[in-house]
Amino acid sequence: LAALPEGYTCRPLTRTDYANGFLDVLRVLTQVGDISEAQWDERYSWIEKRSDSYFILAIVDEKKRVVGTGALVAERKFIHNLGMVGHIEDIAVAKDQQGKKLGLRIIQALNFVAEKVGCYKTILDCSEANEGFYVKCGFKRAGLEMAHYY
Ligand code: ACO
Repeated sequence: LAALPEGYTCRPLTRTDYANGFLDVLRVLTQVGDISEAQWDERYSWIEKRSDSYFILAIVDEKKRVVGTGALVAERKFIHNLGMVGHIEDIAVAKDQQGKKLGLRIIQALNFVAEKVGCYKTILDCSEANEGFYVKCGFKRAGLEMAHYY
């Protein structure tokens, strides 16, 4: 993997990232809501128990603030000989940190994890506006995204 800019580190999400600005980074992606520390702890514990399927990365700057994140969810299938598919989710880089290849490094790291744990492919949904970014990350357009909201 190519290097991050000087002073930045890529590591798994930690419980203490509640206080390190993790949710604020996600706010560049979409609405997050007001999540209390107790709610955070409960969800973090749920995800932690599933550490064979959930891989959430944080990029932190020299002050240990979270400036980027991305998730990989490894889905176990029956098809393709009990194949595993990696789902890339919730990629976000803080507004003032965009354009430094942090997004690219997050995708490269998640792809590395996906291959390591045995995924035969990695897929994601994105807007047209982000297509160019994912093409630069080595993805190609495949299929059509559909959604049903409740
Ligand atoms: N369209 C076309 N090219 C792009 C775009 C874009 N929207 N964004 C970045 N690129 C290019 C860059 O110019 C760069 O090209 P280069 O190698 O020729 O210089 C390359 O892609 C890598 O860019 P990065 O610097 O790694 O991108 P960045 O760190 O800014 O992260 C990201 C990109 C994650 C899309 C960021 O802009 C962001 O957080 N946006 C808001 C949240 C968002 O939309 N997230 C993705 C949702 S989809 C999902 O989560 C599955």
